[in-house]
Amino acid sequence: MSTAKRHEYELPKPDRHVIVLFGATGDLAKRKLLPGLYHLYVAGLMPDKFAIIGSAPEKFSMTEDEFRQHAHDAVTEFCSTKPEGDTWQRFAATLSFGSADPDAFMPLLTKVKEAEQAVGGSPRRLYHLAIPPSAFGSVIAMLGSSGLAEGARVIIEKPFGTDLESARALNESIHKVFSESQIFRIDHFLGKESVDNILALRFANGLFEPIWNRSHIRYVQIDVPETLSIEGRADFYDKTGAYRDMIVTHLFQVLGFVAMEPPTALTAKQLRAEKTKVFDALKPVDVRHVVRGQYEGYRSEPGVAADSQTETMVALRAEVDNWRWAGVPFYLRSGKSLGASRQVITLGFHEPPLKMFAVHRKDVPSGRRNEIIIDFADPGSITTKFLAKQPGAEMCLNEASMVFKYGDSFQAANALEGYERLILDAMLGDQSLFTNSEGIERLWEISTPLLDNPPPVEPYPQGSWGPAESVGKLIAPFHWHIPENGAQPSC
Ligand code: BG6
Repeated sequence: MSTAKRHEYELPKPDRHVIVLFGATGDLAKRKLLPGLYHLYVAGLMPDKFAIIGSAPEKFSMTEDEFRQHAHDAVTEFCSTKPEGDTWQRFAATLSFGSADPDAFMPLLTKVKEAEQAVGGSPRRLYHLAIPPSAFGSVIAMLGSSGLAEGARVIIEKPFGTDLESARALNESIHKVFSESQIFRIDHFLGKESVDNILALRFANGLFEPIWNRSHIRYVQIDVPETLSIEGRADFYDKTGAYRDMIVTHLFQVLGFVAMEPPTALTAKQLRAEKTKVFDALKPVDVRHVVRGQYEGYRSEPGVAADSQTETMVALRAEVDNWRWAGVPFYLRSGKSLGASRQVITLGFHEPPLKMFAVHRKDVPSGRRNEIIIDFADPGSITTKFLAKQPGAEMCLNEASMVFKYGDSFQAANALEGYERLILDAMLGDQSLFTNSEGIERLWEISTPLLDNPPPVEPYPQGSWGPAESVGKLIAPFHWHIPENGAQPSC
């Protein structure tokens, strides 16, 4: 665990590395990992010496030139910095390819040895498993039996299991080869600047933390609607659904940051312990407070069963049953083919008791005027909504806001994407933003009532906000912050 870098202002520099990308020919490597590694390189955050080896089963094998071209195409399409000139040439020279199958790992082993020699010294090994969950077990076992696991670190993609039993079995099989300190279970939401900034907002200011509790906060919403449909991922999505794809992974992790107690230090051990305590305090999901929706037309998507019961949208009420949060509902919503792509946390505050202003109109939902809204879609913003007097002779109130926008306020060029930040942290050995086995298992445990007994899916029109009536009832007497409606003067 490295802790020092979080308090220093010079750029952190990882040790020399040999990085192996399993699933190098797949979608995640193309969209996020290869562009992310290139961006880290351009930003001067890669080690002084490193090698990147792409890997995949033999049937998808590539030559070195093909892999470099593949990486070039990926960076061209998905990286903000284009692959040009000497910088690209030097980065491309670090790329090679070695295929690996559970019983045929020699090509990879040879490449790793060659790369280690080329890098020199005693480079660290880092494996990124960007592969389907069904392949985790065999690749981990192969890393163990080939000796490649020795002294290495491993990044494992979500979803980590599909229920409590499978998550436990997966943890058990990984622990046979890697100790917990070598395992980096990645959730790219926790690498987002604005999610990390929740810790700064809460714990670096005297302004917010004193009111960050049940005495002042009436409700919390974590809302991540997407306009994207399943984009040809039927094979994965129809087995997974919105709850496993988004809630049990990303949204609960974000909830962990919103709800945690102040850690005694900003170290991996303390942060993860505080997040796990929040998960321990989560009540088992109550199916009476869950809405499962399915967008109209989903069952006609290629690869989806004609009678599929998979939810493409889910909204639910969660409860953190501890001293800080007892009685405060946490509303979580996410889904595909909804009305907008947003990533928003909303904290709604109690109204003051003295209602001397005539602002209580029927069309302004009660309690909606004092909110803190954290928009964590990159580059992110924080808005505080409050009531202010409109200029004029009358005491006439209207909604006003104070807005902080990352894009306008700091050097946005220094920003790292979620994956970039987390790959860098894994190279530095900093597990602060990665999830541990206990936390993951607890989230599956509280999910069991829903997984065992899911309410039926309700259809919703594409571009809407889910099955309107049920989603509205779930949150009543409050209202979803999204979509925002403009405020009107009170008189
Ligand atoms: C992924 C999910 O983990 O996160 C996708 O599998 C989802 O279904 C995506 O679209 C959202 O992440 P991002 O990077 O767009 O914030």
